[in-house]
Amino acid sequence: MSKIVLITGASSGIGEATARRLAADGHIVVLGARREDRLAEIAKAIEADGGTADVRRLDVSDRQDVAAFADEVFERYGRIDVLVNNAGVMPLSRLDALLVDEWERMIDVNVRGLLYGIAAALPHFKRQGSGHFVTVASIGAHQVVPTSAVYSGTKYAAWAITEGLRQEMDPSIRVTTISPGVVESELADSITDPGAREMMRTYRANSISPDAIGGAIAYAIGQPPDVDVNEIIIRPTRQR
Ligand SMILES: NC(=O)c1ccc[n+]([C@@H]2O[C@H](COP(=O)([O-])OP(=O)(O)OC[C@H]3O[C@@H](n4cnc5c(N)ncnc54)[C@H](OP(=O)(O)O)[C@@H]3O)[C@@H](O)[C@H]2O)c1
Repeated sequence: MSKIVLITGASSGIGEATARRLAADGHIVVLGARREDRLAEIAKAIEADGGTADVRRLDVSDRQDVAAFADEVFERYGRIDVLVNNAGVMPLSRLDALLVDEWERMIDVNVRGLLYGIAAALPHFKRQGSGHFVTVASIGAHQVVPTSAVYSGTKYAAWAITEGLRQEMDPSIRVTTISPGVVESELADSITDPGAREMMRTYRANSISPDAIGGAIAYAIGQPPDVDVNEIIIRPTRQR
């Protein structure tokens, strides 16, 4: 069945790969992110391949904007089947670097953005009696390393919020956490701290394609309604 799937942070990396994969599977994808030019290019490529994609500028750290994103899709299509809360930033640094603005940005995007997504879609899911939340957390939701304190903190929070959501929902609403290891994307570009940047160059040397994550999300949403895939951890075989 073709589903209406909203994807936040769909302008690159995992969000883009997920959009392409789900569109190829026949779903209608709605891509949100701040870089509208990138979204437009991706949608054009999806449509050239025979898929259907809509795009909208979206800042997940703006509560009203996230609510409007979901409401507009609902008005247009009459339902929302899946929300992939994927947008995230990872400006790693040691705490003693005191990059407090970057800590705040991670909290705004990775935690507040996720909560705003849940708040925006949940009333629609309840009204229509179905829905599927997919949170893109991280291996950082399961482990902390020097420089990842705040990033991991936001991902532990994303994991906990999503698990709490799962426990509170009735069986009409499914909840999945996807926790990737190192994946090729633009994520490490947001690191400004020179030490953390250098450390990540080695750490991220073995990475897998974002298509692997798109495939995992396609698997989770493709299950029958009585099957709830709760978490998938996917990492490069060389990553420990
Ligand atoms: N790559 C990895 O190794 C890895 C591992 C584990 C988890 N993850 C998680 O995977 C998710 C996707 O990251 P990625 O690896 O694909 O990195 P990426 O290529 O940097 O993609 C991040 C996406 O988030 C969007 N974004 C950032 N701030 C936003 C905001 N305020 N509002 C809306 N969108 C925003 C970006 O779009 P705009 O800049 O256009 O807004 C972009 O589309 C993140 O949650 C990340 O933590 C990645």
